[in-house]
Amino acid sequence: MTEEVINYPFASPTRLDVDPRYKEIRPQGIVRVQLPYGEPCWLVTSYADAKIAYDFRNFGRTEGLKHAIPGLHNTEQIKIPTLLLHMDPPGHTRVRQLAAGAFSPDRILKLTGWVQGIVDELLDTIEAEGPGADFIRLFSHILPVRVLAGVLGIPADRAFEFKQWVDISSDFANPPEKKLEARNNNMNFIRELIAQRRETETDDLLSVLVHARDNGDKFAEDELVGLAMALWNGGFKTTLWQLGTTVYTLMTHPDHWRDLKENPENMNAALNELWRWIPSFKYGVPFVFWAKKDVEFTHGKIVREGEAALVEFAVVNRDEEVYPDADKLDFHRVKPAPHMSFTAGAHSCVGQHLARLQIKLTLESLIRRFPNLELAVPAEDIAFEPASFMRSIKAMPLKW
Ligand code: HEM
Repeated sequence: MTEEVINYPFASPTRLDVDPRYKEIRPQGIVRVQLPYGEPCWLVTSYADAKIAYDFRNFGRTEGLKHAIPGLHNTEQIKIPTLLLHMDPPGHTRVRQLAAGAFSPDRILKLTGWVQGIVDELLDTIEAEGPGADFIRLFSHILPVRVLAGVLGIPADRAFEFKQWVDISSDFANPPEKKLEARNNNMNFIRELIAQRRETETDDLLSVLVHARDNGDKFAEDELVGLAMALWNGGFKTTLWQLGTTVYTLMTHPDHWRDLKENPENMNAALNELWRWIPSFKYGVPFVFWAKKDVEFTHGKIVREGEAALVEFAVVNRDEEVYPDADKLDFHRVKPAPHMSFTAGAHSCVGQHLARLQIKLTLESLIRRFPNLELAVPAEDIAFEPASFMRSIKAMPLKW
């Protein structure tokens, strides 16, 4: 039987809502969809099917370089073969290992005091501005940029110029030429920084990567540039948006905010639940894979070798089979399955511990300094960005 092809996404997401249509399609297993750009692909919405898709013996990424990648937009001009996201083992494993060491939980824990210092300083500016201060402008747009620039070794006086290029290349509303120009500026700047590291060794991750390459010849120059791009591009904007939606979720769930204040020891469980519940990436954005062989999913559905699949992981996180009462935000779930917001398997987020540290320190500090924190305007007046790949908030005035 030929599978019907459904036009996808069904609709643009509103705020942090999850489209109820996913509940209707999930019991059918994977379904075939056509996105605005690229060839038809398989859509994965259940936890059991996501585990099959994230097994990289079944699926890979490099094949995508030969195809028009299914997505909301044409991304042909910004494909980079040496970007981690587009690589497969063994090349992917080799390059990723270098970054994985630098972002291991132990290494990240050592950054606690330094990150806390930046959090304190930014919260001072919020306090100084007084009630009505915009958390997104004064905090979310700054913390992840300063942290990641510091870790990588991007000079503080140029970090926000570097940020601007990612802002341009990741904004759906910009024309392809403008995005390409921004991406090239971004890459050239990285090459410039690499050249400086060759002249003078410095105490930062970029220097470690440059010297690992030069001494052991473990990876090609383009792979080095690709890795630095992946870390910078994948690292600050995601955290920026997640900081905003996390604080917004707590402000619009005052019982949960109170619960967190009264039970600070439950912070880790609460963070995992916030990550599960917040549908961070917009429908149709998650990263596509290609089947390396015929792969059987649940309900006996087969993805044929060479066909594409897309895991809608924000929707997988609401699978009732795995999370009872899945639409409910519940900080006291008993041994919940790991959420998929950083995906799973070989490509899962390499920077997740750094993102977690920043968000955790932010919430703990907000609780300490502003226990009566609330939105300074009605929740329906908080506007979301239409042209971003994650759910993101434009401005969020707070009072305390
Ligand atoms: C809240 C913040 C973050 C979110 C929601 C997020 C989300 C994700 C997701 C969903 C993936 C998986 C993509 C896939 O399956 O192909 C990913 C991969 C990745 N992330 Fe993050 N991320 C965050 C923060 C960071 C940070 C702070 C860094 C860098 C320090 C980072 C660097 C990367 C890199 C390099 C990859 C590619 C890994 C690979 O392909 O092997 N991310 N991220």
